[in-house]
Amino acid sequence: GKITFISHDGESHEAPIAEGQSLMQIATSNGIPGIDGDCGGECACGTCHVIVDSDWVSKVGKQGEDEEEMLDLTPERETTSRLSCQIKVSEEMDGMTVHLPEYQM
Ligand code: FES
Repeated sequence: GKITFISHDGESHEAPIAEGQSLMQIATSNGIPGIDGDCGGECACGTCHVIVDSDWVSKVGKQGEDEEEMLDLTPERETTSRLSCQIKVSEEMDGMTVHLPEYQM
């Protein structure tokens, strides 16, 4: 399966699902522009911000408390904003689309 990342200017890039990895990990290992993951997945940088398409919100689960706090500090937060390092990917997410905010280019 695969997940599609759409940048703010509308370019789309795909990353294959690797069971057990985070969405940030599959993005960085596949060179998806706009996902930096500077803190290595510690919920401490906000450079892995994605906006999950509303159809998929139920599949990605809920934010944790740390994630919630970090998102509060994040510009361009939307209702379905998530830190991609806090989302574990699974084949259930095959075909999912997420958008990247404007400041992550
Ligand atoms: Fe730093 Fe997700 S990689 S908050």
